[in-house]
Amino acid sequence: MNHIKAIAFDLYGTLFDVHSVAVQCDEHFPGRGQEISNVWRQKQLEYTWLRSLMNRYIPFEHVTEEALRFTIRHLGLELDEASCRSLSDAYLRLQAYPEVPDALRALRDRGLKLAILSNGSPHSIDAVVTHAGLRSSFDHLLSVDPVRVYKPDNRAYELGEQAFGVGRREILFVSSNAWDATGARYFGFPTCWINRGGKTFEEMGQRPDWEVNGLDRLVTLFASAAA
Ligand code: LAC
Repeated sequence: MNHIKAIAFDLYGTLFDVHSVAVQCDEHFPGRGQEISNVWRQKQLEYTWLRSLMNRYIPFEHVTEEALRFTIRHLGLELDEASCRSLSDAYLRLQAYPEVPDALRALRDRGLKLAILSNGSPHSIDAVVTHAGLRSSFDHLLSVDPVRVYKPDNRAYELGEQAFGVGRREILFVSSNAWDATGARYFGFPTCWINRGGKTFEEMGQRPDWEVNGLDRLVTLFASAAA
């Protein structure tokens, strides 16, 4: 770990809990919040991959809204236009995982450069990070928007290398999304998988270099490598 100069973090599910929207879903559909949130997130990811394959990029917040529309119909529910938009906007106010603010501070204190490298649009990344009061924790907020293709396409990961101006081997990519950690590793980033819930890693020919159950443990890894 001693050769790492910078860290690129995935945003959704890694630093911020995508299932914090279950609360707002529950307000519209009491007792169904978690179920809606689960289908919604899975469909949102599928739509990013499908749109990349079809070369039909649209910004992430629109993908999020399309995925919500699917979810509502799939579950046999109904939602008017205004509520659909307001529920999609809940993705702009996700909760950071509790250990995140302190961990980011500790990593910065070690002299590491930090970025978010996300499928989110510049607007959604900025909104989420600013709402959580974490804007100043990052040197770069990197959206895939300029390359108009979603992770795990290599062109998305390249944005990290370009922004930091160092080689990919010196950039640690951190994600709780196993498919994202897999893509990043194929690209050539050393990779840390945040596995908060005893999940199973993908069987796609890659393994993460490190696996921890929270960002605080990543700080510990850096501290022990330096000791
Ligand atoms: C992101 C999604 C993929 O932040 O989690 O890029």
